[in-house]
Amino acid sequence: MPGACGLGLLLTLLLLPMVSASRPGTVFRLNKEVLSYAAEAGKAPLQRALQVTVPLFLDRSGGVFQPTRIQILNVDVSHLRLTFVANFGIRLSAATNFTLKIFRDPEPLHLLLPTALLADTSVEQGSIGTPLVSISSCFSIFDKAIVFDGRNSTAPAMLAPLQSHIKAVLQSKLCLRISNLVQGLNVHLGTLIGLSPVGPESQVCYSMINTPTITNDYISLDINAVLFLLGRPIVLPVDTTPFVLPQHVGTKGAMATVGLSQDLFDSAIMLLQKAGALNLDVTAQLNSSNNPLNTSVLGQLIPEVARQFPEPMPLVLKVRLGATPTVTFRTNNATMRLQPFVEVLAPTSNSAFQYLFSLNVVVNLSLQLSVSKVRLRGTTSVLGNVQLTVASSNLGFIDTDHVQTVMGEVFEKPLLDHLNALLGMGIALPHVVNLQYVTPEIFIQETRTGSGYFSAGFPTAGTGLGL
Ligand SMILES: *[C@@H]1O[C@H](CO)[C@@H](O)[C@H](O)[C@H]1NC(C)=O
Ligand SMILES: *[C@@H]1O[C@H](CO)[C@@H](O)[C@H](O)[C@H]1NC(C)=O
Ligand SMILES: *[C@@H]1O[C@H](CO)[C@@H](O)[C@H](O)[C@H]1NC(C)=O
Ligand SMILES: *[C@@H]1O[C@H](CO)[C@@H](O)[C@H](O)[C@H]1NC(C)=O
Ligand SMILES: *[C@@H]1O[C@H](CO)[C@@H](O)[C@H](O)[C@H]1NC(C)=O
Ligand SMILES: *[C@@H]1O[C@H](CO)[C@@H](O)[C@H](O)[C@H]1NC(C)=O
Repeated sequence: MPGACGLGLLLTLLLLPMVSASRPGTVFRLNKEVLSYAAEAGKAPLQRALQVTVPLFLDRSGGVFQPTRIQILNVDVSHLRLTFVANFGIRLSAATNFTLKIFRDPEPLHLLLPTALLADTSVEQGSIGTPLVSISSCFSIFDKAIVFDGRNSTAPAMLAPLQSHIKAVLQSKLCLRISNLVQGLNVHLGTLIGLSPVGPESQVCYSMINTPTITNDYISLDINAVLFLLGRPIVLPVDTTPFVLPQHVGTKGAMATVGLSQDLFDSAIMLLQKAGALNLDVTAQLNSSNNPLNTSVLGQLIPEVARQFPEPMPLVLKVRLGATPTVTFRTNNATMRLQPFVEVLAPTSNSAFQYLFSLNVVVNLSLQLSVSKVRLRGTTSVLGNVQLTVASSNLGFIDTDHVQTVMGEVFEKPLLDHLNALLGMGIALPHVVNLQYVTPEIFIQETRTGSGYFSAGFPTAGTGLGL
């Protein structure tokens, strides 16, 4: 699936180059702790990759050419180290023992060949917005082979050319194998640009927008989010100030630190609003515990309702968000303000609905954020009161104070249920296939941008990445 999405996305981006200029900013920083993890996880694949085939050795020590089979029995990478090289990339150094079996008569010979591997890899921005790792230099340095079995029957004259043969073969093959591993890594990193759902009919896709910043402590990628509605990228009126992740932020020892700008939130919320996903209908059945609202209750507050509906009828609330909700970040505090427009309707005999009145509502919500796997999720609760004013009425004058309590109560639970279901689905953070955020911690921080006003930064820190 990531492959197919990546391809679809690639086409869309090529058709709409303007979109990639917008920047709901995200910064993905991999700290040096991730390299220890990668070195540990990479040992076994490296060992497998280094298991090359060695062609026949033509032994001339007996006076005639004698083809001798050589097999690598074991590759032991006892030490693998990855380090950041500032302004360049990542250096790999590995200490390896190759155990080789030389099939010669009368008994096989076993050699241990200690080898040091050194490779420098650069990390750049690939043409489709994915990180691109490539080997810029690679060496293998061989120590003297240790003969540990079959020594008695081996003519010393054979050992020197045999070792040269093995070293020449390894010299040419090992770096090629490391390069293949890196190619595989690039394929994996390429899944960064896969599409992930944000809500119904909407998706987000991340891509790198410039060359990564590399220091001795971390590599930092500036990532752009493109949001799609019904398969089409949407252009958002976003802040043009580049988002910068503060230097010292997040948990010490975290492998990755992800900074999300307020822009990304505003854009995601706007996407949900434009998609109509925030709208809801609070429908009712009589005697339902879910929506207790009916005309007999309302009739006690608004006499005109009692007059028009002598028989109890359930009421329907159509909740529409015309204005995009605003999210406000203060240090360690996120709030969201919704201004829905609510129409109150009653069913008529011919299965249509009769419009009764409408309300402008303001509700402040507290927003709690969490990360699970690769998604950032939200939960809301109401802060303070739900504030109502009558927008228009078919029932003559309505005293807001009279309907405030009952409408607030009726409206609050379905709204929260709806929002929490939607925000609970969450938005995917930048990620690649098979890696997810573990033991994440979330910090909300206000950062001052270059242009002198406040914008809220939102760094999340994963203390680990799990495979
Ligand atoms: C290679 O094997 C030798 C002999 O067993 C050992 O002394 C050395 O530490 C090993 N080196 C590596 C890199 O495993
Ligand atoms: C090699 O020769 C030594 C001494 O001649 C002997 O002790 C040893 O067992 C022999 N090793 C093998 C593997 O034949
Ligand atoms: C109308 O709503 C009130 C309040 O929830 C409830 O007590 C009453 O039973 C409802 N009436 C009908 C007919 O559903
Ligand atoms: C709702 O409940 C009231 C009282 O509990 C009852 O009189 C009325 O018939 C019920 N209405 C419906 C539609 O079930
Ligand atoms: C967040 O700030 C709002 C006011 O801006 C306040 O009412 C609320 O209690 C705060 N929440 C937390 C968790 O501090
Ligand atoms: C919502 O929050 C804003 C800003 O904190 C405040 O001015 C307003 O009175 C609040 N409205 C409600 C309905 O709580």
